[in-house]
Amino acid sequence: MDWKRERSGSPCRKLLAEAQEITGDNSMEKKAQDSRKGAPHRAVPPAVGLLFSMALMNTLLYFCLDWFFISRPRSAPSSAHCPHGHFRMGQMKNCSPWLSCEELRTEVRQLKRVGEGAVKRVFLSEWKERKVALSRLTSLEMKDDFLHGLRMLKTLQSKHVVTLLGYCEEDNTILTEYHPLGSLSNLEETLNLSKYHGVNTWQHRLQLAMNYVAIIHYLHHSPLGTLVMCDSSDLPKTLSQYLLTSNFSIVVNDLDALPLVNHSSRTFVKCGHRELHGDFVAPEQLWPYGEDMPFDDDLMPSYDEKIDIWKIPDVSSFLLGHVEGSDMVRFHLFDIHKACKSQTPAERPTAREILDTYEKVLNLLRETVMSQTREML
Ligand SMILES: Nc1ncnc2c1ncn2[C@@H]1O[C@H](COP(=O)(O)OP(=O)(O)OP(=O)(O)O)[C@@H](O)[C@H]1O
Ligand SMILES: [Mg+2]
Repeated sequence: MDWKRERSGSPCRKLLAEAQEITGDNSMEKKAQDSRKGAPHRAVPPAVGLLFSMALMNTLLYFCLDWFFISRPRSAPSSAHCPHGHFRMGQMKNCSPWLSCEELRTEVRQLKRVGEGAVKRVFLSEWKERKVALSRLTSLEMKDDFLHGLRMLKTLQSKHVVTLLGYCEEDNTILTEYHPLGSLSNLEETLNLSKYHGVNTWQHRLQLAMNYVAIIHYLHHSPLGTLVMCDSSDLPKTLSQYLLTSNFSIVVNDLDALPLVNHSSRTFVKCGHRELHGDFVAPEQLWPYGEDMPFDDDLMPSYDEKIDIWKIPDVSSFLLGHVEGSDMVRFHLFDIHKACKSQTPAERPTAREILDTYEKVLNLLRETVMSQTREML
């Protein structure tokens, strides 16, 4: 994992190790000098050497705090620099063209089912000794959604979207990069594993929330225009559309329901044709004419991308979880999250504004933790 690699190679870690060596060497040198020069030097109490070592370590710790509390930016996914129609994943050196029907049929070996939704059945598969995810259309009735999702996957390839490796419209298959940690629904389970203990911190969890809001921002400013993440009628459903990558960030995986909003042509959207219920969806997504009047899709008003903003506090709160410091972050995000829950869509902030606030809170809290630690030293 990137963060592990970053830590082992840190200049601060080297500096600290050197400091330990230096203090060790000093005491050895001192012993040698003591034996050379005799009694006068033995008068220096060993506690002084110990105190000196501790002071030196503290000074170094003080100056290395930034390194301890500020994780390095993660490197962009490897597919970032491939031209359209090509991909690169894992340790691949070169970009490869998307796999064709023929290649998908002959080179991909389906292993076991790892997920299923209304549109796709997803199988862990193998291609050239690499793990990949093969999605198959579940039923022909869902073909339009499947093709919409495929078109979006092709057009929106970026660090925010799962890497497309190939597709075959004739066979209704899509091949994407496999993410062993699965969807965001498994986040808590994953973070409870002892090997992820180190990343189960408010800092990393807030970073995940920032990844999530950055994806919403990307969809709202996509190369196709303002896209709304419609496949999100409750929290578990929403979480199932995103994958947790092995370097601990988020990519969106399911782009089957991304209608386009165009404010200048007054084109708005409706997420599905059925009545929606509950607090998770935005109030404008609910049937507005009371229980006495039966739901009628034709009479249901349409809405815009601000329905995604309404849902951000709930998703972020899930991502923040309940670790030490999560509540402190929630407290600092209270105002922006309150604004997201404005009944009037236009009064809700943009994803950019939310992202900026998250970033400020992250920096502020890091600074606070650092100065508290400095005071303790
Ligand atoms: N590349 C992948 N790597 C690992 N797991 C995956 C991958 N793609 C999908 N999955 C798993 O399969 C599940 C279903 O995938 P997906 O959401 O694309 O299906 P769907 O049928 O479009 O869902 P929906 O019912 O939301 O329309 C995901 O939630 C995830 O658990
Ligand atoms: Mg899905």
